[in-house]
Amino acid sequence: MSDIAVRVDHVTKSFRMYHERNQSLKSAIMRGRTSVHEDFLALDDVSFDVPAGSTFGLIGSNGSGKSTLLKCLANIYYPNKGAITHFGKIAAMLEVGSGFHAELSGRDNVFLNGSILGMSRKDVTRKFDEIIDFSGVEQFIDQPVKNYSSGMYVRLGFAIAINVDPDILVVDEVLAVGDAEFQEKCFQKFRDFKAAGKTVILVSHSMPTVQAMCDQTAWLDHGVLKAAGPAKSTIKAYLKSLNVEPD
Ligand SMILES: Nc1ncnc2c1ncn2[C@@H]1O[C@H](COP(=O)(O)OP(=O)(O)OP(=O)(O)O)[C@@H](O)[C@H]1O
Ligand SMILES: [Mg+2]
Repeated sequence: MSDIAVRVDHVTKSFRMYHERNQSLKSAIMRGRTSVHEDFLALDDVSFDVPAGSTFGLIGSNGSGKSTLLKCLANIYYPNKGAITHFGKIAAMLEVGSGFHAELSGRDNVFLNGSILGMSRKDVTRKFDEIIDFSGVEQFIDQPVKNYSSGMYVRLGFAIAINVDPDILVVDEVLAVGDAEFQEKCFQKFRDFKAAGKTVILVSHSMPTVQAMCDQTAWLDHGVLKAAGPAKSTIKAYLKSLNVEPD
């Protein structure tokens, strides 16, 4: 087993941005084959390692590339250059409701989402009560999830992700929509993960949370890695760049 959980190796991800949209068939024909676009670099040659067993924070301003990096890690996007390698089973919670089907009940979504995350039907059945119990949405489990509040989505999604029993748990900003009680429950889970030698990667805009939870952090700024290392110094440098005093 490697002492690295995730290796981000010279990752570049660009998106094609079109400046003019064809408003009509005539304008499309008039323009012919030429299209006006530029490549926008969401991640620009980013490299860092996430040590196995660490709780690792990913920080940076809106649009700096954090979610793009996590999507590359979860194989939702593919980097144009470079590679992300992970060692061990991964479970990612990226966006509120991702992996859920709006028309299906909470119960059916537990089975659907569990199987997307690599659990067998038997596994899900065995862990079903624990998942529901952790989520706290028991009363609504047979309602279609389109009627759930954002917090309820996140509760159920997180409860499934942790019960997949991954080696690496990846959580984008989503926990912020949970209430204080649920957030504390999640943080306790992160501590349990750490005690079990597992790796947690989390994105948060709450620096006190990152400071309290994370050993190490990476700071992205406009797709460029500004710093990676001990949480305290990275957070300090990030806040300094924003002219915000740390707590
Ligand atoms: N599928 C896409 N197509 C085009 N541009 C995209 C796509 N996904 C992300 N981007 C762009 O990449 C940049 C980085 O976005 P990303 O979602 O990674 O930021 P972020 O750091 O997660 O921000 P936030 O803190 O707001 O969640 C943004 O400018 C965004 O518009
Ligand atoms: Mg994001």
